[in-house]
Parts: sequence; structure tokens; C-alpha cells
Amino acid sequence: MPATPLEVENLSAGYGPTRVLEGISFSVPAGARLAVLGRNGMGKTTLLATLAGQTRHYEGRIRIGETDVTALPSASRALSGLGFVPQARCVFPTLTVEENLFVGLKGRPKSALQEAYDMFPRLHERRRNLGSQLSGGEQQMLSTARSILGRPSVLLLDEPLEGLAPVICEELMKVFAELARTGDMTILLVEQRIQSALDFADHVIVLERGRIAWTGTPEKLSQDHTAVERLLGVGSLH
Ligand SMILES: Nc1ncnc2c1ncn2[C@@H]1O[C@H](COP(=O)(O)OP(=O)(O)O)[C@@H](O)[C@H]1O
Ligand SMILES: [Mg+2]
Repeated sequence: MPATPLEVENLSAGYGPTRVLEGISFSVPAGARLAVLGRNGMGKTTLLATLAGQTRHYEGRIRIGETDVTALPSASRALSGLGFVPQARCVFPTLTVEENLFVGLKGRPKSALQEAYDMFPRLHERRRNLGSQLSGGEQQMLSTARSILGRPSVLLLDEPLEGLAPVICEELMKVFAELARTGDMTILLVEQRIQSALDFADHVIVLERGRIAWTGTPEKLSQDHTAVERLLGVGSLH
């Protein structure tokens, strides 16, 4: 599937009776890279989960390309081109790396696994190891690769760098940049490693208590020290 634009209009969502997101509107052009930033608990995961159809929807619309997916269940959104790599990484511990990847094939031939191995040669080395034997970085690679085998047109990444060593972060960010560069994917990246997110993205939204509190380019955010300190809780970016 080629990259498609994502459009979100006046979205409100939450869990049961608890409203978490209020009046979220933004759009991401096909093939663009959006960073979603904000302190802990501000609604970043809820936003991605809502796009993936995993929360309670109250109001608003979500469009992937020409398709209005607002009323579609999670599985149908995946078929419409949405790939979600959750914060929890979701690796099956008792399956091997290769068996974990099979899950992502969704009817594609086994030979497509080579795409995952080209992207992450380390997964090829580890293909007969169990999910439970992987390091955090390898789990993230596996979780990402499994989603990408489904050839999503919009990819949602929730804190992929969390808890990983800097050298692994660099390796992952290189792959994400490569995915973006080939132009086949629109990517939303939630990250606490702000500089990595800003280096990657061409546009940024910052969430504060479930609302969009700031929006602009990475360059503009880097220069807006007040916003950086107030909304992200860090003194400065470097
Ligand atoms: N399953 C849930 N049920 C109820 N409230 C939740 C649930 N998950 C998250 N929340 C609440 O939603 C808010 C946003 O959380 P989250 O989206 O996880 O934030 P972030 O990813 O930015 O750290 C928080 O107040 C959190 O307590
Ligand atoms: Mg989160």
C-alpha cells in the first residue's frame, strides 16, 4: 500500500466514562513524519490507541486516505492500512523470532520475511531464539518488523526507544528514517527522547492533558524555550 494521509477532526475519546482526549484535530500528509510529544500521562498512548480503534470513541472523525475509519473496529483499521507498534512491544515469549514474524505476514508468502531480515539483520541472527530470550532492543525490532510486514500505509510508533541503549536507539531511528525516506509510509512517532523525535519529524504536536497545546515544526519548537520547559519539562534541547 502506498503512504496515505491521516486526518483527525475534533476527536474526543477515552476509557469507559473517562474522557482523556478532547477536541483533537490535525492532519498528516501522505509520507510525512509527525512527532507526538508531551509529558507522561498527557494522552499520547491514548491518541495512538484511539487511532488504532482500541479506546472508547465519543466524538470526531478519523480518515486514512479516502476511508473514514471512525466506525471501524480495530482489525478493519489494520486492513485499511494502519499499523500500530504499541509501547508494550507485544512479543510472544514462547514463540521464536521467526514464528513471531509469521503473525505479521497476514497471508503474504513466507518469503516476505526477508524484508524484515533486511531491515533488521539482527532478527535473522536470532530467528530461532524465543521471544523471551530477546533484549529490549531486539523486542522492539521484532515488534516493529512484524507490523511492517503487513505493509501499513500509516505507521504508529509508541515510544520505541524507551529503555534502550543509545547505540540501539540510533539503529532503530535509522530504520525509521529509511522507512520514511522510501515514501511508502506516513509515520506518527511518540517519543520521550525529544531530540531524536525532532531530528526525525517534519511536524510536531505537543499534548497537554488530552488536548493539543502546541503545534509547529521541529525547528520552531527547538527555539521555543518557554513551550519546551512548560510542556515537556526539560530545560533546553541540544
Ligand atoms: N486503560 C485506561 N483506563 C483509564 N484511564 C487510562 C487508561 N490508560 C490510560 N489512562 C489515563 O489516560 C491518561 C493518559 O494516559 P496515556 O495516554 O497513557 O498518556 P501518555 O502516553 O502520554 O503517558 C492518564 O491520565 C491515564 O491515567
Ligand atoms: Mg504512553
